[in-house]
Amino acid sequence: MGFFSIISALRTLLVFLPAAASLQLPRAKPPAFFLAGDSTTAVVGGWGRGLLNPLIEPAWGINFGLSGATTESFKARGYWGNLTEHVRRYAATNDAYVTISFGHNDQKADSGVSFELYQQNLIDFANEVKSLGGSPLLVSSLTRRVFPRDQPHNATDSLHAQRLAALHAADVTNSTVVDLNAASLAYVDAIGRDASWEYNYSGDDYTHLNPYGEVVFGRMVADLIVRAKPVLEMWIAPNETLSYALWNNLPA
Ligand SMILES: *[C@@H]1O[C@H](CO)[C@@H](O)[C@H](O)[C@H]1NC(C)=O
Ligand SMILES: *[C@@H]1O[C@H](CO)[C@@H](O)[C@H](O)[C@H]1NC(C)=O
Ligand SMILES: *[C@@H]1O[C@H](CO)[C@@H](O)[C@H](O)[C@H]1NC(C)=O
Ligand SMILES: *[C@@H]1O[C@H](CO)[C@@H](O)[C@H](O)[C@H]1NC(C)=O
Ligand SMILES: *[C@@H]1O[C@H](CO)[C@@H](O)[C@H](O)[C@H]1NC(C)=O
Repeated sequence: MGFFSIISALRTLLVFLPAAASLQLPRAKPPAFFLAGDSTTAVVGGWGRGLLNPLIEPAWGINFGLSGATTESFKARGYWGNLTEHVRRYAATNDAYVTISFGHNDQKADSGVSFELYQQNLIDFANEVKSLGGSPLLVSSLTRRVFPRDQPHNATDSLHAQRLAALHAADVTNSTVVDLNAASLAYVDAIGRDASWEYNYSGDDYTHLNPYGEVVFGRMVADLIVRAKPVLEMWIAPNETLSYALWNNLPA
């Protein structure tokens, strides 16, 4: 290569460098998922692991789900503070997504959490995530798999009000809804009692999930998240057979 062709090659490079650099700019940071919730999110018996396991590096996440948690005890025991500290710490390197899923314990008569306080806490959680630059995902409560004796395709809709509270919190904070309650209720109704009891954590536990149930409902959450935020699709390894079963009302 002669001198002038080297110069011309360099000039070409210089002309294209800024363009190449600017192409980098819109590239999103890899997502980090921080999961806030009760035992139905938690590492053992919840869907959290089923969402986090298929993440494609450098995407990553931490499951802060706490067995027995209400929105109040999650704060009081330091879990919410710890989670928001993570959102803050990784803001420069990751797009933080925070799943917020409570209700199973808040709704209990002896929880000490009124429905109004539960509603306000969901709103406050979402607003705080936003103020830290993260994206809240309001995940409505996983359905329980309790069926009236004579109606094996009509699970009791015991978290109806809690679902509406999650939708309302998303509405007033302009956040994303992941309507797990509606999707999981429709799914267990479709496949019926016996098939949905295959996911029982143990014999008479119709709320928590065994390891296979974690995979199934974690995938349901993942698919709902991708539907709401298509930009995340590239960060979650697909499971086409499982997704097909879930969205075609087939037992997985
Ligand atoms: C905060 O969360 C991290 C990740 O789950 C955990 O390792 C750590 O022990 C937590 N810290 C406190 C004080 O709970
Ligand atoms: C399901 O159960 C609820 C509560 O018992 C009842 O109101 C509803 O009509 C039932 N749906 C069907 C399709 O049977
Ligand atoms: C709501 O959030 C979306 C992004 O998620 C944003 O584009 C839109 O401007 C927001 N609307 C309001 C009213 O803040
Ligand atoms: C789920 O619960 C039912 C009723 O207790 C029980 O018969 C079934 O064995 C449970 N399923 C599993 C997988 O434990
Ligand atoms: C994908 O889904 C199938 C059920 O359809 C399940 O058996 C398998 O373990 C899943 N694979 C992964 C990697 O989770």
